[in-house]
Amino acid sequence: MTAPTDTDNEGKTPMVIARTAVVGSGLMGAGIAEVLAKSGCDVIVSEVDTAAVDAGRARIEKSLAKAVERGKLTAGDSEAALARLRFTTDIADLADRQLVIEAASENEEVKRSIFAGLDAVVTDEHAILASNTSSMPIIRFAQATTRPERVLGIHFFNPAPVQPLVEIVSSVLTAEEVRETATAFVSEVLGKAPVQASDRPGFIVNALLIPYLCSAIRMLESGYATKEDIDAGMVKGCAHPMGPIALADLVGLDTCLFAAESIFSETGDPAAKPPVLLSRMVDAGLLGVKSGRGFYEY
Ligand SMILES: NC(=O)c1ccc[n+]([C@@H]2O[C@H](COP(=O)([O-])OP(=O)(O)OC[C@H]3O[C@@H](n4cnc5c(N)ncnc54)[C@H](O)[C@@H]3O)[C@@H](O)[C@H]2O)c1
Repeated sequence: MTAPTDTDNEGKTPMVIARTAVVGSGLMGAGIAEVLAKSGCDVIVSEVDTAAVDAGRARIEKSLAKAVERGKLTAGDSEAALARLRFTTDIADLADRQLVIEAASENEEVKRSIFAGLDAVVTDEHAILASNTSSMPIIRFAQATTRPERVLGIHFFNPAPVQPLVEIVSSVLTAEEVRETATAFVSEVLGKAPVQASDRPGFIVNALLIPYLCSAIRMLESGYATKEDIDAGMVKGCAHPMGPIALADLVGLDTCLFAAESIFSETGDPAAKPPVLLSRMVDAGLLGVKSGRGFYEY
C-alpha cells in the first residue's frame, strides 16, 4: 500500500484509503488525527461542539509544533499536515469517508450512538468503521450498525504520534478483508506496528499490563514493600523504563480502575480484581500525573 492520494481510489474498491475521519479529538483522537494527516490522508475530525473543536485543533497544533521544535518534522510538513485536516460538529460531513476511527469518550451508549450515526451517513459500502476503545467489546459497536462485518478495533497507544504499537481487534463478525486492509493501512501508510488481537477484555497489552499494575498496588497496600522499592525492583532488576506504581500514575488511576473493572467483570480473573486502595485513590481524586498527585506527587 503506497501513500494515499484521493484519486487512487476511483473505480476501485478502497484498498487504498485516502479519505479518513476521527470522531472525538481529545487526548487520543487528536493524536490519531495528527498521525493520519502526517501520513498524507485527508482527515475530517468530528466533535460535539465548537469549543471541543477548538480544543482538539489546539491540541494537534501544539503537538505538531513540538515535533517541529524537536526536529522530528519540518515546518513545511507540519503545515501540509494541518492543511489536510478539517473539523466539523456534524457527523453527516463524514458521508464520503473510507475509514472512520471513533475515539470518543469511553462510554458505551455514546459510542453505540456514534456507530449508528456513522452507519446512517457513510455511503461507501467498503468503508471501514473502527473504534479506538481500550476496554469495550467491539461487537457491541458492530451491532449498532447494519454492517457489523465492516467494524473492528484499531487501538492506538498514548501518545499516538509517538507510540508505534496498534492493536487490530477483530470481532467475531469482522470480515477477514477488513482486518487485512486495516492492518496494511496501519503498517504501510501510518508506519505503525500492528498486532492482531481478539475481541476480549484488555486485548493483548492491557490484559497483561492491568493485572501487573494491580499486583503491584496490592503489594503496596499490604505493606509488603514501599512504592519506591517496588518501582526500583522492576527498573533496576528487570530493565523496565518505569516501575509499576509510577506507571499506574502515568496511565491514570481512574483509567487503571476502569480497565481492571472491565477485565475482572468479564473474565473473573482474580489478578485483575481492582485493589481497594486503587478505588479509594480514585474516590479521593488522586488520579496520578494528570491530577498532580497519585501514589507520587507531580
Ligand atoms: N487515554 C488513553 O491513554 C487511551 C489510550 C488508548 C485508547 N484510549 C481510548 O480512546 C478513546 C478516547 O479516549 P481519550 O483519552 O482521548 O478521551 P478524552 O476524554 O480525552 O476525549 C474524548 C473526546 O470525545 C469527544 N466526544 C464525546 N462524545 C462525542 C461525540 N458524540 N462525537 C464526537 N466527539 C465526542 C469529547 O468531546 C472529547 O473531546 C476511549 O475509547 C479510550 O478508551 C484511550
